[in-house]
Amino acid sequence: MKFFVDTADIAEIKALAASGLLDGVTTNPTLIAKSGRRILEVVAEICDVVQGPVSAEVAATDYAQILREAEVLRRIAPNVAVKLPLTPDGLRACRTLTDQGVMTNVTLCFSAAQALLAAKAGATFVSPFVGRLDDVGQDGMQLIADIVQIYRNYPALKTEVLVASVRHPIHVVEAAKLGAHVATVPPTVLRALYNHPLTDKGLAGFLADWAKTGQQITDMVAV
Ligand code: E4P
Repeated sequence: MKFFVDTADIAEIKALAASGLLDGVTTNPTLIAKSGRRILEVVAEICDVVQGPVSAEVAATDYAQILREAEVLRRIAPNVAVKLPLTPDGLRACRTLTDQGVMTNVTLCFSAAQALLAAKAGATFVSPFVGRLDDVGQDGMQLIADIVQIYRNYPALKTEVLVASVRHPIHVVEAAKLGAHVATVPPTVLRALYNHPLTDKGLAGFLADWAKTGQQITDMVAV
């Protein structure tokens, strides 16, 4: 499974990229607003740090204007994935951009039917929002299961399932068990994936016992 980070905070992205575990980045208008920066500058900076796909979202809703905005965003860097709303105009633009060889991420997906349309429109990624579905009492992870099953039925569909609106590590694990291609995860959740109290306890015990030996590995010569 690929890990994308869902943020426009460049300091967070640099720190997480250093882990070697980061495969891409997703942004949205809310995250860009939160960064307090101009979209072109911040996305360009992210694309310098991360080689994988970096999603930058259009703010237009009609086909012609979506394409004009996509033209600006795609020119930022070759690894920009233009993020498009799951609407008739958004999907029409998706088909046009896909035919031009532009990476696309169709966002705000809340049903399997919508995901099927996104794949037929040639989306590189579709972003089902699991957390927002859970918030309204629906089963976000069941949507991932349905989309993965549908796409597997039709190998000609090449769209990757990018699990979005992730709220906790269990979302990531469940999505991986279902075979989703990508999870886009807030920095706090990505860091939480490392955590287990028994790891902390076990490490503390090993270090305490090691200190009793008085040994220093770096003082030794390998045999
Ligand atoms: C990612 O592409 C989405 O924009 C993001 O995951 C939405 O998450 P939220 O529901 O926490 O805003």
